[in-house]
Amino acid sequence: MCAQYDIIEHLLKNMGDLELILFIAGHLTTPTLSSNDNRPVNGSEVNLHCDDHNQNVTSYTFYRNQQDACSQKHVNCTGSYLIFQPIMEGDAGSYTCTIQNPISSNSSNAVDLSVSVRVSQVKIQSNTSSMLWVGRDSVSLQCSALGTDVQFSWNLNGEKLPSNPRYSLQQNDSVLIIHPVDRSDIGSFTCTASNWLNTMTSDSLKLNLGLPVSEVKIQSNTSSSVILWAGIDSVSLSCSADGSALHFSWNLNGVPLPSDSRYQYNQDNSIIIISPLDKKENGTFTCTATNVLNSETSSDLNLNLAWHPDGDIQCSANGAGETVNLFCSWPGGLPPANINLAFQSQNLTGRDQVMHSVSLSTITSNDELFCHGAQGGQEKTCALPLKRPVAEGFTNHSSIPVKIGEKATMTVTLSGSAVGINSRVLTPKILPATFAWYHYKPEPIQLSEENIVSTELSSTLTLNSVTANENGTYECRARNLLGTTSFFFILDVPEEKVVSKGLGAGEIAGIVIGVLAGLAIIGIIIFFILKSKKKKAKAQNFGINSAENPIGIPEYAVINKKNGGMAETSLTNNPQDDKDDVKYAVIKFQNQEQTKPPNSEPEVEYSTVKNASRK
Ligand SMILES: *[C@@H]1O[C@H](CO)[C@@H](O)[C@H](O)[C@H]1NC(C)=O
Ligand SMILES: *[C@@H]1O[C@H](CO)[C@@H](O)[C@H](O)[C@H]1NC(C)=O
Ligand SMILES: *[C@@H]1O[C@H](CO)[C@@H](O)[C@H](O)[C@H]1NC(C)=O
Ligand SMILES: *[C@@H]1O[C@H](CO)[C@@H](O)[C@H](O)[C@H]1NC(C)=O
Ligand SMILES: *[C@@H]1O[C@H](CO)[C@@H](O)[C@H](O)[C@H]1NC(C)=O
Ligand SMILES: *[C@@H]1O[C@H](CO)[C@@H](O)[C@H](O)[C@H]1NC(C)=O
Ligand SMILES: *[C@@H]1O[C@H](CO)[C@@H](O)[C@H](O)[C@H]1NC(C)=O
Repeated sequence: MCAQYDIIEHLLKNMGDLELILFIAGHLTTPTLSSNDNRPVNGSEVNLHCDDHNQNVTSYTFYRNQQDACSQKHVNCTGSYLIFQPIMEGDAGSYTCTIQNPISSNSSNAVDLSVSVRVSQVKIQSNTSSMLWVGRDSVSLQCSALGTDVQFSWNLNGEKLPSNPRYSLQQNDSVLIIHPVDRSDIGSFTCTASNWLNTMTSDSLKLNLGLPVSEVKIQSNTSSSVILWAGIDSVSLSCSADGSALHFSWNLNGVPLPSDSRYQYNQDNSIIIISPLDKKENGTFTCTATNVLNSETSSDLNLNLAWHPDGDIQCSANGAGETVNLFCSWPGGLPPANINLAFQSQNLTGRDQVMHSVSLSTITSNDELFCHGAQGGQEKTCALPLKRPVAEGFTNHSSIPVKIGEKATMTVTLSGSAVGINSRVLTPKILPATFAWYHYKPEPIQLSEENIVSTELSSTLTLNSVTANENGTYECRARNLLGTTSFFFILDVPEEKVVSKGLGAGEIAGIVIGVLAGLAIIGIIIFFILKSKKKKAKAQNFGINSAENPIGIPEYAVINKKNGGMAETSLTNNPQDDKDDVKYAVIKFQNQEQTKPPNSEPEVEYSTVKNASRK
């Protein structure tokens, strides 16, 4: 009423405006606001119509939540229409419109618009990128998406996530917590986000699962039937296992492999190359795979190792009394060497070593032991003639001319020759012997060991400075299992003709020493004379401090002058004085002997003197 009155008053004030008066229509009724789309989608063109029910309206005003709805760029308000060009999520709200004419206005009902947004940008994320150990660790997966009223669901390997107490969904299913992770969580997780408009699935996510060790297997790069030769062949062993973050280790016969330059490993130790193989690798290899969760060991692997025996085949014999034991031996091979022992008409076979006992009396001088060994493609032979000691090329009773004072050596070296089976000439082994030397004068006298050097196969007698006494026949008796052989030498020392022809160096030395000895004897005599005189002097001066009485001839002479003619007996119980006398005498002795070297010991010279005088 009040508004109507205002309008009339207004009209009365402006009576000239007749046109406006023509439009006067009175009171406006409520317009109806409606949308052409009850469930608008973000991005679509949507319009709201303010239906005035054919009233005379001069303006339309649109409100969103009581605010002007037309101020935004994408909103076009044209007459009774509000057009979203296009509608956006932020346009949701409660809309009304108001119609107006000069005398009245009226507002519509409210239209609530909610704008739906399509699902997009679906993402799946884990709260950790580190390894998740099965049975121990937990993980939280988050699914995110743009869109309105989004609902989430989860898949594993394309299948709906099974219901499992380890899985729990939180925050309207957008979060999946797995507690703890399990081997069955292996595969691709995806999440699906959906609303009434669309459905969208994330990329897949695989958990970095830490799996326990299992299925540990050991393998060689050579088949088990192939023989591997120690010292020659190489092998590569590999270990494989299921499980995560594995570390490998190797055992031989239950003990960790020691470090060895022949062993080479790859980065994670899963492969070992042994180059070359050694005898000690003849055993049981295992490998063990380990990670944080557990550790497991493979089955056993044995290499098919072989090696040759050490060195050469040996032919030998030993014995006691009437029995001679013959040996063919070539031990240490794997597999053991095949050995043939042939002797006389016998042919024995065996492995590593073969022994055959025969009676000494059945052995003839032409018999020889023949051995043959075979192993791994190698063949070895040897022969041992069963003979008394032989020295090929030795001249029995040969004469050795040597002059007195010269050095003479006599040597016997045993040798042998052998013809093996099938007339194969072999470098023979020789039976070891012991040696003894004799000098005939004229009966054989065994010589002492000191000038003899012997091995199993030879013996040498050395005479460093031959004397006339060493003239004559020498015998070397070499003894082995089968008997003794004598080797004779004649040492021919020519007789000395004339002594005046000249003296040898030794003889001159002898004579010089003899002269010195003579002087020494003179000295000793003088000493005894002086000693007896001193004893008399000492007896007079009993109690004289010896320090005040230095040893010397002049003083002695004084004492001698002062005192004389005392009894010798009183002195015999005073060893101190006796000792003084001896010291005195020695000094005197040396003073006289100018030709003697200062440090020479009288005793040694004495023995030389004896020798010389005997000559
Ligand atoms: C608003 O919409 C009308 C009708 O569709 C159109 O003629 C007019 O050009 C539009 N105005 C703007 C500013 O887009
Ligand atoms: C879960 O959805 C409801 C309604 O759909 C909502 O009110 C609530 O905030 C959502 N919760 C979370 C944690 O998103
Ligand atoms: C096995 O590996 C070793 C070391 O690498 C190599 O020397 C050998 O020839 C290999 N054996 C075979 C049969 O491949
Ligand atoms: C070598 O290994 C084999 C089988 O593993 C075993 O029978 C044999 O006794 C071993 N030989 C040596 C010498 O260790
Ligand atoms: C001994 O016998 C073996 C077979 O057992 C044979 O191969 C070998 O030639 C024989 N040796 C001799 C010396 O007869
Ligand atoms: C050397 O001759 C003696 C006999 O004088 C003899 O018994 C011995 O066997 C001979 N030795 C050698 C090697 O011929
Ligand atoms: C050594 O013996 C030979 C012959 O038996 C003899 O002629 C010579 O005189 C002897 N020599 C000596 C130094 O006795």
